[in-house]
Amino acid sequence: MEIKIAIIGGTGVYDLDFLTEKKTITVATPYGVVSLETGFYQDIGIAFLARHGHDHSIPPHRINYRANIWALKELGVQRVLGTAAVGSLRRDLSPGQQVLVDQFLDFTKQRPLTFFEGGKSSPVVHTDLTEPYCPELRRFLLESAPAGYSLHDGGVYVCTEGPRFETPAEIRFYAQVGGDVVGMTSATEAILARELGLCYATIAIVTNYAAGLYAKPLSQDEVIASQLANTQNLWLLLQNTLPRLRGEPGCRCRQANTFL
Ligand code: HPA
Repeated sequence: MEIKIAIIGGTGVYDLDFLTEKKTITVATPYGVVSLETGFYQDIGIAFLARHGHDHSIPPHRINYRANIWALKELGVQRVLGTAAVGSLRRDLSPGQQVLVDQFLDFTKQRPLTFFEGGKSSPVVHTDLTEPYCPELRRFLLESAPAGYSLHDGGVYVCTEGPRFETPAEIRFYAQVGGDVVGMTSATEAILARELGLCYATIAIVTNYAAGLYAKPLSQDEVIASQLANTQNLWLLLQNTLPRLRGEPGCRCRQANTFL
């Protein structure tokens, strides 16, 4: 079975209902063992990875990002679609809307951010991130959005360390420096995917207004409930997009690092 496409499910996306012939497999990587599902949509082989585990037991700062991305590369995956619940930094971007982000600001603090640690065993590599999200994958997603689907073209994803939500002061700052949405995972995945030459896109699903935008405390339940309400929409978008990804990528993500 050839698997060239992977979907990484974020908060509230723990299972890809529409896959057939589902199997759970494990992949050993230098960073640990990864458990994921494989299956088919039509005749297209797909890998599905629940970023937080199927029971949401892995917080964002403890996700083994390097093992996950390495495992997908090992399987032969070329393109990765990630879903991510996000808070909105803008009052005109309301819960339920989706954003196909095209840039990020990385405010994470203590996670491994590279496969290339230097020293004797690894080269020193500075990867180009002028286009941090695959432009071709983004275009396919945008063109596949059903009529009336609220998918914004472009946005800046602010990636925080978590697992706590932000303070209103932090949110004001992130908005002032150009952020549109805030979450805890996408930048890390985008960086590592590009280091290994994988195409990567994040569909950011707005689940709440970020802290302080309205005078209401945030809750994890609100985020999950809002994400679940949006799942059918998300399936439609993915089902429309997947058949368009049958060919080889025509972008430059694969050439990100010359020695790959
Ligand atoms: N902040 C950070 N991450 C999030 C949020 C938020 O408001 N909502 C969903 N993920």
